[in-house]
Amino acid sequence: MNTLVLIGAQWGDEGKGKIVHFLGKYADYVVRYQGGPNAGHTIILDGKPFVLHTIPSGMVLPGKICLIANGVVFDPEILYEEVNLLKKQKISVKNRLFISSAAHIILPYHKLLDELREKGNIRIGTTRRGIGPAYADKVVRIGIRLCDFVEEKTFKDLLEKNLREKMPVLKQITTANKIRSEIMKNYKRWKNFLKPMMADTALMLEEAAAKNKNILFESAQGTLLDIDFGTYPYVTSSNPISGGVCIGAGFPPTKIKYVLGIVKAYCTRVGEGPFPTELKDKLGEFMREKGLEYGATTGRPRRCGWFDAVAVRHSVRVNGIDSFAVTKLDCLKGINPLKICIAYKYKGKIIKEFPYSREIIAHCKPVYIEMPGFNQNIRNTDFNKIPENARKYILKLEELTKTKISLVSMGRTREETIVVSKPNPAYEERWGLI
Ligand code: IMO
Ligand code: MG
Repeated sequence: MNTLVLIGAQWGDEGKGKIVHFLGKYADYVVRYQGGPNAGHTIILDGKPFVLHTIPSGMVLPGKICLIANGVVFDPEILYEEVNLLKKQKISVKNRLFISSAAHIILPYHKLLDELREKGNIRIGTTRRGIGPAYADKVVRIGIRLCDFVEEKTFKDLLEKNLREKMPVLKQITTANKIRSEIMKNYKRWKNFLKPMMADTALMLEEAAAKNKNILFESAQGTLLDIDFGTYPYVTSSNPISGGVCIGAGFPPTKIKYVLGIVKAYCTRVGEGPFPTELKDKLGEFMREKGLEYGATTGRPRRCGWFDAVAVRHSVRVNGIDSFAVTKLDCLKGINPLKICIAYKYKGKIIKEFPYSREIIAHCKPVYIEMPGFNQNIRNTDFNKIPENARKYILKLEELTKTKISLVSMGRTREETIVVSKPNPAYEERWGLI
């Protein structure tokens, strides 16, 4: 058995869909363990981008078993649409997609609450998919799990309890009758659709491990959006970090063998919140256009900036990252010099570790080193044959993050990936990372 956790080490959108597509051939199971339809994982199929929100990206690879584990919150309507889009690509989810009975369901009132909150005191710039309110319900213990949803009597009872609790806030925009009838109009269709996929995914993973299967855990969002280790409160409401696998999939820490971090060669963020290396000038716009930096879920323009080694070191620490996949190196072509943030400065003091204080992270100034840029295209070749300055840039990232880099991606398709030759522990070999 081999297990690999694929982690976003920045603010999401690092290219997780593409790397799952690349590594997925080595996997038997691909598992989502947190987040929900706030994610947008893009895979290039027959030359065209295909975006998955809730379903693991491994679904596009024939024969892989895909699990939506207990830590995910899912929206039945979005999932239904995703399955239909897959059908159009002639990809069937039958006997390949399973959802944990303990996964919580997102209902229309969660999305309304998300929207209302965004108009209130603290604007996070959420995806408005109802993620925060659904996780809040889980924690205050009024959430509805899939196993409760499919039992009509239990569900109706829970729905009424939720409406009673939420209407004092929601009555400014709608009525309980409207919400109830919208849900009940769809209830049977959602139930019939979901019931065949309902499973004990933690048990399935135990059985898979016993049969020596390879399991790939696909995180959503990124470490800097983690509810505990991100730039709180500008974060998502779950734990994308590697430890999230244990809770979000019921998979024991003793069985996790490898953590692969994904970083962009620069950095982006979407929504509100601090971003010390953000470029608000023409160069930031250049990166956005070059990297097609527009949200895969909401279409919002992403904020762009330099690679932040302080933030990424923090990600290495809290995830135990064994090695990195660096994506979008090609998008830096033509920028000279290239800068990398190696520390922050706040009130005259140098800060080398990622701060928790919202005051410091919002007002610190980045300290940069400069590297010479490159003007040549990066072809899919031996790592030693890529343009010298591009190679030096990658080696500098390796040095600053104290973490080796095993994959370099320079295009959207799975073929545009360089496997950097490195000493190879046995499990790296099994994931093709040599
Ligand atoms: P993938 O998996 C980038 C951001 C939102 C917002 C914050 C909270 O594609 O990398 P939420 O809707 O989760 O309550 O929003 O988190 N966010 C993401 N940013 N990539 C994502 O997912 C994101 N999912 C949520 O923009 O700032
Ligand atoms: Mg995304």
